[in-house]
Formats: sequence, structure tokens, C-alpha cells
Amino acid sequence: MNARVPAFVLGGTGYVAGELLRLIAGHPHFELAGVLSDSQAGGGIAEAFPHLQSAYAGRSFLDLAEIEALLGAAPRAALFSAAPHGVAAALIDRLLQVAESGATDVHCVDISADFRYRNAHAYGAVYGHAHGAPARIAEFTCALPEHLARSPTAHVAHPGCFASAILLCVVPLLAAGIAEPTLFVSGVTGSTGSGRKPVEGTHHPRRHSDLYAYNPLAHRHVPEILACAEAASGVAAQVHFVPHSGPFARGIHVTVQARLRKPMSGSAVRDALRDYYAGQPFVRVTEAMPRLKDVVASNYAHLGVAADGTTAVVTAVLDNLDKGAAGGAVQWMNRLFGFDETAGLAAPAPGWT
Ligand SMILES: NC(=O)c1ccc[n+]([C@@H]2O[C@H](COP(=O)([O-])OP(=O)(O)OC[C@H]3O[C@@H](n4cnc5c(N)ncnc54)[C@H](OP(=O)(O)O)[C@@H]3O)[C@@H](O)[C@H]2O)c1
Repeated sequence: MNARVPAFVLGGTGYVAGELLRLIAGHPHFELAGVLSDSQAGGGIAEAFPHLQSAYAGRSFLDLAEIEALLGAAPRAALFSAAPHGVAAALIDRLLQVAESGATDVHCVDISADFRYRNAHAYGAVYGHAHGAPARIAEFTCALPEHLARSPTAHVAHPGCFASAILLCVVPLLAAGIAEPTLFVSGVTGSTGSGRKPVEGTHHPRRHSDLYAYNPLAHRHVPEILACAEAASGVAAQVHFVPHSGPFARGIHVTVQARLRKPMSGSAVRDALRDYYAGQPFVRVTEAMPRLKDVVASNYAHLGVAADGTTAVVTAVLDNLDKGAAGGAVQWMNRLFGFDETAGLAAPAPGWT
């Protein structure tokens, strides 16, 4: 079957949805069938995303009934959800029911937190509300593609942006027995990580030319990171995480420090990480410590390594909207449909953003 797979995007006017639309516009095997907007159905896609004018001139956001009609009639469908947590699960459940009753061959990648937990109770304990589709949880697997060769389920939950950067650092340290399982993590995120709706803590005048920590040792994504790290490495770890707000729009920079289990040089730890990620097209272990500008606006993640005999440091940089969200979701969707996982994602970073 050579026809492109119809792609559906939920979370219409959001930042991650916009990045999904940009990636789908340049993808060789997916084409946009419809993008749902809860607030702007009928409005022009290019009005919300002027940078996408060349790809979607004349195309409009759709409402739920329109998405359901298109999805139910499609033989195959790629369903990308960039809706908020707490909204995504029920929406996805409803659309998967439509796809199932229409015999649509569908795969879903959810970028919210809704399907990252193994049970509804664990989800509710962190997010403070009932899960929107508990019966669907078992149909999703949460992992980075670099840590799981093949999803055992038809659908995938993206681990998230800070989680992607942290997991890329900690999983090889744990899986290869390099580090003790008590990990100290400092991370900096750009303002697009907080989504489109302005709030006091993410407002430009406040963030610009400034740097500050928030929620130290209490970030709500830590339980998800621990579960993913254990599933990928087989080791139950502790992660002590201090996130920071950075004065830039795109990108995540995390630094993991860990006690070595036996004395190792920096080059030995670097070689171990290179072995671990051998053959992974989007992860590079660099000689120098990595810089955000080398990866922003791309699906690549760069890791830098140092060690002093007792302590290992691994630093990761990636783009929160790409590898940390939309790009990582397209990477999984490529795999779920049996396409080359780099399809539509191989463009290098611009370097100067
Ligand atoms: N930003 C990041 O770096 C990042 C990274 C990893 C994961 N994520 C996750 O990705 C998802 C999207 O993040 P984002 O940064 O794009 O957020 P965002 O900019 O706030 O966009 C979310 C969009 O969801 C839609 N929405 C809101 N309420 C809705 C409802 N009741 N029903 C249906 N749609 C609704 C809205 O668009 P419409 O009104 O047009 O529908 C809104 O613009 C979130 O779950 C977030 O946690 C974000």
C-alpha cells in the first residue's frame, strides 16, 4: 500500500500540535487528515500558526464530529494526541472506539501524561483526578524508542520532555551497572515547555535574562521517570531532580550526577554510553559537552560525559517540542507503521536559532 497514512492531530492550537503539523507537512508517509481544535474549530490553521502558511493555506481546524467522520472512514490512521493531560485519555478513548467500529487500522501516540502510568490509581495519586479511560491503559506502552526495540502494544505514551532528556542519561548508567541507583539531576527548560497559555511564571518579562529553579525535589513527572527508567534498565532508582526555568523558547538541558560503582575514567563511561546507543540514529554521545543550539529544532539528542574516578556526569540536550514531544511521537509512529524510524525527522538542527 503506497498511499500516505492519514494523520489526525489532537490539541489543535497548542505548541506541540503546531510542531506535529510542521513535521507531518514534511513527512513522506503521513499526510494531515484533520486537526482537532476545541477552541478554534473552523478557524484557519495558518492563523494560529503563521509559520505553517506554506503547508496549510486554506486548511481549517476541525471539530470532534468532523474528526470522527474522517477517522471512521479511513482504512488506516495515525492518531497523534497533544491534548492536555486529563483531557487526552477520554478523547483518545472515544476516537479509538470510532476507529474500531469503522475497522480503521489505527495507532495512537499520546504525548500527555495520561497513559504513562501502569494503572489508574497511580495516575490519580499524582494528578488528583480520575483517569479518563482506565480500560485503555493496558493498550499503551510508555518508553523512549531508544530503550525499547518494539512496542508490545498498538499504542504508545511518550514519556515527556524532561523525562526524555533524563532517561537518555540515566538508563545506560543503570543498565550497564556503571552508577549507583541514586541519581542527582539538574535541568533547564525553555518557555515553550509550559504551553501556549501565558501564566505568571512563564511570562516573557519574568523569564527573559533570568534563571531560577522551581519545584525542587518535587517535580510531578519524577514518578513517571522512575517507572520508565526501571522498565528500561531493570534497576529501581532514586532520582533527585531540580528543574529550572531558562530564558529561551526551545530546548532542554539536563545534568545527571551519579556515584560510580567502580572507578572509571570519563572516556570509559563515554565509550559505554556509545556502545549502549550504537545504531540509534537520533542519539549522539559527543566528545565535548553538548550545547542546546546543536539540537534545537531537530529530533537529535546529544549527550556529553565526564567522570573523575568516583563520580560520573552525563549531560543531555534536546528540543522539548521535537525529541521531547512531537518528533519523538513521529519517531514512534514511524515504527508502529513499519516505516524507517528516521522518516521525516532526519533534518539536522539549524544551529543558530
Ligand atoms: N510543550 C512541551 O514542551 C511538551 C513536551 C512534552 C509533552 N507535552 C505535553 O503535550 C501536551 C500539549 O502540550 P502543549 O505545550 O502543546 O500545550 P498547549 O500549548 O497548552 O496546548 C494544548 C492545547 O490543547 C487544546 N485543548 C485544551 N483544552 C482542551 C480540551 N478540553 N479538549 C481538547 N483540546 C483541548 C488547546 O487547543 P485547542 O483549543 O485548539 O484544541 C490547547 O492549545 C500536554 O499534555 C503536555 O503536557 C508538552
